[in-house]
Amino acid sequence: MDSTPALLAPYKMASFSLSHRIVLAPMSRLRSYNFVAQPQAILYYSQRTTPGGFLIGEASGISPTAHGYPNTPGIWTKEQVEAWKPIVDAAHKKGGVFFCQLWHAGRASDNCFQPDGRPPISCTDKPIRAKTHIDGVTEASFPAPLRLTTHEVKQVINDFRKAARNAMEAGFDGVEIHGANGYLIDQFLKDQVNDRTDEYGGNLENRCRFALQVVEAVADEIGADRVGIRLSPFADYNDCSDSNPEALGLYMARSLNKYGILYCHVIEPRMITQFDSRKTEDSLLPMRKAFKGTFIVAGGYNRKNGNEVVASGGADLVAFGRLFLGNPDLPRRFELDAVLNEYDRSTFYTHDPVVGYTDYPFLETNN
Ligand SMILES: Cc1cc2nc3c(=O)[nH]c(=O)nc-3n(C[C@H](O)[C@H](O)[C@H](O)COP(=O)(O)O)c2cc1C
Repeated sequence: MDSTPALLAPYKMASFSLSHRIVLAPMSRLRSYNFVAQPQAILYYSQRTTPGGFLIGEASGISPTAHGYPNTPGIWTKEQVEAWKPIVDAAHKKGGVFFCQLWHAGRASDNCFQPDGRPPISCTDKPIRAKTHIDGVTEASFPAPLRLTTHEVKQVINDFRKAARNAMEAGFDGVEIHGANGYLIDQFLKDQVNDRTDEYGGNLENRCRFALQVVEAVADEIGADRVGIRLSPFADYNDCSDSNPEALGLYMARSLNKYGILYCHVIEPRMITQFDSRKTEDSLLPMRKAFKGTFIVAGGYNRKNGNEVVASGGADLVAFGRLFLGNPDLPRRFELDAVLNEYDRSTFYTHDPVVGYTDYPFLETNN
């Protein structure tokens, strides 16, 4: 039996005193009807809350053009902010630290999710060529996006800023800027997508400008110690890849230090999509060493390799997606080295308020 559950050691993340290192990864569950978080999320998140546990909420749209899937929550209207309040409140009552993930899908969207049926927006006018949908199974074709003008890029930065303010108004402890998985920020970052000729395209510095200006705007608005960012330089999800992911990741990690943000949350190079992994020699260690704040890793972690990455200094915290989805009491199960529930992929993205959402069993209390 291993006596060093590194994942269960407390951790001080600036002003947040975490009682363990097991983070709830952000996961869209498509149960927020009409882009408004619903009461069933109170139970879902509070089931996954522990005293001093860190939760990152599902991707939440920052503006009317931000959504790419049905029934994802937003954080740009008063109604949406009000709807989040009891959910955040319930997590706080159980002692959790809860961040809101701020999301813009960019071209990974469809006219049907856009105001007046317009095309989605992006840094480019090239559509996504890949046909795989969010669930990794359904075939979907994406429309050609509208290329943002330089002026419009600045408006989107302001939308992130306003959404961060709204998240604080809803009671969240901070925000995670979604810069991963082929959505808008990642579209700007990656050289296989970004074909701009203005200050937001071309060389590495220009491609990272949008992400860093979003970070700066959000940090100015709510304080850098309440801001994290999620990145996936190595992934090719949503047809969004880069010819030199090491250089991209390292440049971002170094540049983020300028803003003194709370954390950098990075998806492991082994994850090519949200679900599929491969063998690779690539590593997040250079980014880990370069970034001065809290470093969170995600992607294909379990109890064993999660303990190892923390114990070896590869990360401060580990975010768990599918295992936490299927095991609301994951920290307890890791503590006891208990057997885990199997997650059911067929209900990840269905819209039922209970099935596959809040009906995963807890360990019996006498365990
Ligand atoms: C159902 C589901 C929804 C997801 N939604 C999001 C999301 O909203 N934002 C995000 O950054 N990642 C999202 N992801 C990716 C996860 O945060 C995580 O990176 C991924 O599941 C790999 O980690 P795992 O191997 O621990 O599951 C989602 C994953 C799943 C399974």
